Amino acid sequence: MKRTHHCNELTAKNVGEKVRLIGWVHAIRDHGGLFFIDLRDREGITQLVCDPSSGNLGDVRSLRDESVIEARGIVAARPADTANGRIATGEIEVTVEDLIIHNICDVLPFPLTDGKVDSVGEDLRLTYRYLDLRRPKSFQRLRIRHSAMCATRNYLNGAGFLEIETPYLFKTTPEGAREFLVPSRLNPGAMYALAQSPQQYKQMLMVAGVERYYSFARCFRDEDLRADRQLEFTQVDLEMSFVDRGDMYALVEGMLKAIWKEARGIDIETPFIRLPFEDAMSRFGSDKPDTRFAMEIHDFSNALGKSDFKVFSSAVAAGGCVKAFNGKGLAEISQGEMNSLETVARALGAKGLAYIKVENGQWKSPILKFLSNREKAALAEELAMEDGDIVFFAADTWERACAVLGRIRLECRDLAVAKGKMTIAPDALNFLWVVDFPLMTFDEEQGRFVATHHPFTAPVPEDIDLLKTNPQAVRGQHYDIVLNGTELGGGSMRIHQPQLQEYVFKEILKIPENLVSDRFGYMLRAFRFGAPPHGGIALGFDRIAALLCGTTSIRDVIAFPKTQRGIDLMAQAPCKASERQLRELHIKTTVDAANA
Ligand code: AMO
Ligand code: AMP
Repeated sequence: MKRTHHCNELTAKNVGEKVRLIGWVHAIRDHGGLFFIDLRDREGITQLVCDPSSGNLGDVRSLRDESVIEARGIVAARPADTANGRIATGEIEVTVEDLIIHNICDVLPFPLTDGKVDSVGEDLRLTYRYLDLRRPKSFQRLRIRHSAMCATRNYLNGAGFLEIETPYLFKTTPEGAREFLVPSRLNPGAMYALAQSPQQYKQMLMVAGVERYYSFARCFRDEDLRADRQLEFTQVDLEMSFVDRGDMYALVEGMLKAIWKEARGIDIETPFIRLPFEDAMSRFGSDKPDTRFAMEIHDFSNALGKSDFKVFSSAVAAGGCVKAFNGKGLAEISQGEMNSLETVARALGAKGLAYIKVENGQWKSPILKFLSNREKAALAEELAMEDGDIVFFAADTWERACAVLGRIRLECRDLAVAKGKMTIAPDALNFLWVVDFPLMTFDEEQGRFVATHHPFTAPVPEDIDLLKTNPQAVRGQHYDIVLNGTELGGGSMRIHQPQLQEYVFKEILKIPENLVSDRFGYMLRAFRFGAPPHGGIALGFDRIAALLCGTTSIRDVIAFPKTQRGIDLMAQAPCKASERQLRELHIKTTVDAANA
């Protein structure tokens, strides 16, 4: 090792010792020919004192911030009045005798000080990602992610799981996200698809008798990117044989407990609440409810179903519902804010966003004239309406009313926090399970059922008979784990009977016979050779890391993330392939290379 200590280690106890430190120039100050350097490595900072008249210091004058140097010298106590209580090594400094300059840093594209960097555009930071990562705050995030990974491995190893890698080069499947295709040089015209998840392989591992599998699986999905979505991301992926849903909940709760303890020293309460999908939608308008604040949605289909306000009564008459929630304390939102809420609602298909404000003891609303006293009393009571409140309504199909108010509820959360009307405890950790999802959802666009989770999810045993008569009413043995309104993971108990799996593919999902045998034939065959009952889950590890670090963007916890446009700005990927490469891969592009 080139160093004797890290830059966080030396204290008054080391005074008089000869030491060797190596790292980056965090700051350099010239005090009349005497140079004070804050030397930084990943662990901390130590002050060096360089006197060119007494030490062998090379061209210390040429040093700039972020240059890499190695210093040999003697630990000295700092005069009491110059001690720095803010850093671990504040009592001492190192009087440098020999200085080696390993690398002089160019002029930096942006300052690396944590406070200042936050105002630097993300594109610039991603272009120089190695500089951005060099900041203590970024390094801390990598460290938390690493601890979480260690805790996960320890926990699963302890529970009898085997870590097994599965192929990334897989094949295209007709369900799920858009895939990345990889041309096969050896098989002209054929394509691999990069695995969206190890789903099918892990099920094959159960058929293979492994019983308990996990991996940190990189998954590839060609999706539109958001703060919590990347093209490639990491899952803690696991699968177990001979278990039921309860076993799975207990295992995952224990794992998350271990992760939060190890990475953050936080004890989380288990077991987590289990919320049926229907309640999650009805009460919070979301299948990943944020329960850190109230503003719960109530149903007024009975109380307002016969209202003189036609929007309400006709929605109920058409089989829909009237729902409302109290945007507590937000009566004073501006007209502009109101308009943008309405725009959000309309984008989700709402025909409007009726409201009632309570200001100075008065109810104010364009729909007030249509409401009877009894209807008003029902609202006031159920929603605990008080001065300063605003109630929002949706009259629509159940699905749309839930979705619209669910979204408006989150907008109100952000408005209420921004206006100081509500605080959300920074340390709140509202974990919950959403369970009892419908097995299938009808896709209006495609005119057929699609699997709510994926086509391998087993129905709830009591509902199996409904598959033939009323598939929409069948619940799946599917569970999602949610934290503070973010979907952390999802999984299910799987179908392990070949007949049932085939029925779901062909009769429910209406996947054409030839596609079923082409894409899933091997699975159906495997299930005829002694397939154990099994189930599993995958947790988005980037999302776990982001929540552990208290950031909302998974880009912050991925060493080399891609931008919203799917670009690695540092390495400049993707890029053009040469003519020769394309020829070898039997690929012709329709894009003019000059414009690509
Ligand atoms: P699912 O598709 O729900 O399930 O994915 C599981 C979890 O992975 C995370 N995730 C993502 N994270 C970042 N970027 C993305 N683009 C992205 N997409 C998903 C989410 C999500 O909850 N094979 C099944 C699991 C199973 O049934 O066992 C699966 O992949 O946190
Ligand atoms: P209207 O009578 O159509 O002018 O609507 C009166 C109020 O009800 C307006 O504030 C509309 O935005 C709102 N509104 C209209 N349709 C709906 C609906 N389906 N759900 C909730 N509010 C609505």
